[in-house]
Parts: sequence; structure tokens; C-alpha cells
Amino acid sequence: MNIIEKIIANFINNKSLYIGEKVTISEHMIQSAMIAEKAKSSGSFVCACLLHDYGHFILEDPDKLVKKKLDGKHEDLAYEYLKIFFKKEVVKPIKYHVLAKRYLARNKKYFNYLSDASKTSLKLQGGILNENQSKKFKKKNYFKNAIKLRKFDEAAKKTNIKMKSINDYKDLLISQLL
Ligand SMILES: [Fe+2]
Repeated sequence: MNIIEKIIANFINNKSLYIGEKVTISEHMIQSAMIAEKAKSSGSFVCACLLHDYGHFILEDPDKLVKKKLDGKHEDLAYEYLKIFFKKEVVKPIKYHVLAKRYLARNKKYFNYLSDASKTSLKLQGGILNENQSKKFKKKNYFKNAIKLRKFDEAAKKTNIKMKSINDYKDLLISQLL
């Protein structure tokens, strides 16, 4: 099975709800990609949105979990796994989308907008960034796209909307391979 077939199979087989939300992880990622398309984002960025929580799928794989002794860090997992196959423009925003949340949460309004599950995971992810950490993060090349991804991420938890299927993104996925 090649990587594209594997990704599609993982999307189709995943039935578990996105932690504390009412949509599955697959639906959540597809919704993020749909929002990115609506915002006329580049193919690479749509693909980044589509795969941003792919680390959760890897975490579900017991073999890999045991091998790496992992406890979360889904953004690093996805990055390490996907960077072998996909362009930098796709995988870098994925790597930084949790840091983006920790950055954005400095803003009270943004923090209050987070779902309860997201507030809880924020704590586990290291909490709100301090001044120094924020400055460092702002200097990263993919800062802007990580922030954008994060905002689309937060909006992609809706039920009862007309969903695309992962198969609709097959050509896009192929176009973003290295
Ligand atoms: Fe997400």
C-alpha cells in the first residue's frame, strides 16, 4: 500500500470522535481543508489542513505507540511521519499548529472561544506561551501559516454540514508529494 492509499484508508476507517468534540477526527480534518479551500488557500495549505491531526491516527496504531513510547505530541508525530512524503509547505504548519494555539491563547477572547476539550489540552500541551516564547515563535518561517491553520482548525468542528470525502482530495494529496 502506498502512502496515499494508506492515508485514505486511515481516514475511512477512523470512527473515533475528535477528543471531546462531536465530529470524528477524519471529519474534522476534512472540514479544515474545506474551510481552507473556501478561503482560496494554496494546494499545499489545503493539504496541511487536511492532514494536520494525522498524528492522532498514528497514535492509534498500537505498534508505533509502543515502539516510540508516545504520549500525545501529535503535531510532532505527524510532522516526523509525513515529512518523508510531503512538501515542507505542507508539513511545517502541521508541526507548529499546537504552538500556534499556545500563542493565540494569550488573547483572552481567543482563549474563551476555545472548546472545553481544547482548553484542557492546552494545559497538557504546555499552556499559554510567555513573552519570550512568543517572540521566538513569531520569527519562524511558517508562523503565519501555522496561525492560519489553527484558526481554521478551531472552526472545523461543525455537525450537519455537507461534507466532502477523503477521496475528493486524492489528486491534491498526490500533487503535494515530494
Ligand atoms: Fe485539529
